[in-house]
Amino acid sequence: MNAPEAFHTLGIETSCDETSVAILRGETEVLVNLVYSQAEVHARYGGVVPEVASRNHLGKLPYLVRQALTEAELEPRDLSLVGATYGPGLVGPLLVGLSHGKGLAYGLSIPFLGVNHLEGHLFADRLTETPSEPPFMALVVSGGHTSLIEVAALGQYRTVGTTVDDAAGEALDKIGKMIGIGYPAGAEIDRLAREGDPTAVRFPRPMASSAGFDFSFAGLKTSVLYYLKKNPHERPRDIAASVLASVVEILTKKSIEATRRYRHDRLVVVGGVAANTHLRESLRAHGAKRGISVAFPPISLCTDNAAMIAAVAAFRHLKLGELHPFSLTPDPSLAL
Ligand code: KG4
Ligand code: ZN
Repeated sequence: MNAPEAFHTLGIETSCDETSVAILRGETEVLVNLVYSQAEVHARYGGVVPEVASRNHLGKLPYLVRQALTEAELEPRDLSLVGATYGPGLVGPLLVGLSHGKGLAYGLSIPFLGVNHLEGHLFADRLTETPSEPPFMALVVSGGHTSLIEVAALGQYRTVGTTVDDAAGEALDKIGKMIGIGYPAGAEIDRLAREGDPTAVRFPRPMASSAGFDFSFAGLKTSVLYYLKKNPHERPRDIAASVLASVVEILTKKSIEATRRYRHDRLVVVGGVAANTHLRESLRAHGAKRGISVAFPPISLCTDNAAMIAAVAAFRHLKLGELHPFSLTPDPSLAL
């Protein structure tokens, strides 16, 4: 095995609509992290079309791998390990990245590791200047996931709560569509809400006061739909602000409670919705009141990217001695 400073991991992420390739030196030094977002391609359909996403990954990946090597000033023979997401996610898109990664590893005669996308999100924090030392609580909140995960140690996780229906970002994207915002809608809802009245409509806070730490966002989406049928002239900015008031309250309440219940003083928040300015303010303020520090890695590491995938592969290979056979297949509902 190469010395850690000369150990280069190529990471591949294709579980949804971001095609991403990264190269890491050692376990945490990001040499390059290229992300090609297909959002524009899917915008006209109002959401991700799996078949279209697969084809786009297939067309884009070889070029991104070449560009990553060029930018890192490396040759293919300098790579020591390939890690690719194998779940959870959309099966077609996963198959493209996984097969590409296995092919590269096979051709270069280097080890290959399939990576759990959720573990990838948790590793985003490890790539920051001030990584959180486990144990801590983590909230993974994006278009595909809303989960509270206790990180006892790297590689040791317990999911203490997850959504029973839609992910928070998925609900925001669908509500955005109802008020005329293109896909993905989260960032625009964030911006609009700053000009709106969060008390204009009292939307429900599903499961906010239920026992346990599971989430539900489908009911909120439906109540917005019915409200808009009855009140078609409500200002989009007031709907955006009122919807975010509900989503932020639910996420804040459950995350802070879970962090306290499991006796942690650190909460790490990752995933695309972690970009939300209202959520950041709310979690920081409520965390401070309870002696909990809240970490938000930079947005470029929070949203889907291959650096976080490479980080998991490097850690699992170098520290735990893991590798996978080339017979590994995608697992769309892979759990942590
Ligand atoms: O992590 P990500 O890039 O991909 C998934 O794994 O889903 O997250 C994308 C999600 C989308 O639902 C998008 O609307 C949401 O993150 N998002 C936001 C913001 N920026 C992106 N939601 C709320 N506020 C934002 N500023
Ligand atoms: Zn993700």
